[in-house]
Amino acid sequence: MSEPMKIIDGKAIAAELRAELKEKIDLLERKPGLAVVIVGEDPASKIYVRNKVKACAELGIRSYTYELSETSTQEEVEALLDKLGTQEEVDGILLQLPLPRHLNAEAACAHIPVEKDVDGFSAYNLGLLMRNRAEIVACTPLGVMKLLQREGICLEGKHAVILGRSETVGKPMAMLLLNANATVTVCHSRTKDLKAICREADILVSAVGIAKFVTRDMVKEGAVVVDVGMNRDENGKLCGDVDFENVKDITSHITPVPGGVGPMTITMLTYNTYLRAIDKRGRVE
Ligand code: GUN
Repeated sequence: MSEPMKIIDGKAIAAELRAELKEKIDLLERKPGLAVVIVGEDPASKIYVRNKVKACAELGIRSYTYELSETSTQEEVEALLDKLGTQEEVDGILLQLPLPRHLNAEAACAHIPVEKDVDGFSAYNLGLLMRNRAEIVACTPLGVMKLLQREGICLEGKHAVILGRSETVGKPMAMLLLNANATVTVCHSRTKDLKAICREADILVSAVGIAKFVTRDMVKEGAVVVDVGMNRDENGKLCGDVDFENVKDITSHITPVPGGVGPMTITMLTYNTYLRAIDKRGRVE
């Protein structure tokens, strides 16, 4: 008989990690400081930023929020990032993405000094990740790794399949799993025989942003399924990329949405901010 399926409780694991982190922050004489910059009125971004600021406050991290108007110019955004880059009280800078369409996110992010990058999006940090020497790792993929670690899921030699190749999730996720000695396949919109590849996965990570994209016929019996999606279903209810109800019983472990990866992402932001504050360098343990 195979082991029963386990729903991974990301909310509980995130709360545990935050409690551990709070103990460390309580010991610091100088509390970490995070600047959060949001441009425009995107409703989802506003909610994310509010939750990030709240998580910081709960852990004793000072946060400074800068709300720039939808019509801000590239120069205005970059000038603010340059200013924050020089401020002693700011250990980390987060530029909430996506930016309004007329702005260039990559160029703006280049104005965040590498030593204050808490997202791991800088070219330098991405390069270090390729060398398995990452200082700071993007919050969502790092959160996924911590979930797998806490659940005691062995990655070595396993076939990990990632759906999505974004620079914020898919690509760093692939590198982390590769660094953990998994065999990694990254699938995207042009991939042929997607279903067949997914069925080969011991670990399936979906980050495509399409509700119910991963169906039961795409999942191998006993696979670990990690759902990074944040979508709305036909009734406007929050859901992931995975058809959870129909998939869950054939998995060994599965993350729900909400309550899976989401709470980990924000927790990893507080963790990265702490790392920036203590020695300006992080480690993926
Ligand atoms: N928008 C959605 N997720 C993220 C994230 O992890 N970091 C930033 N900067 N923007 C985001």
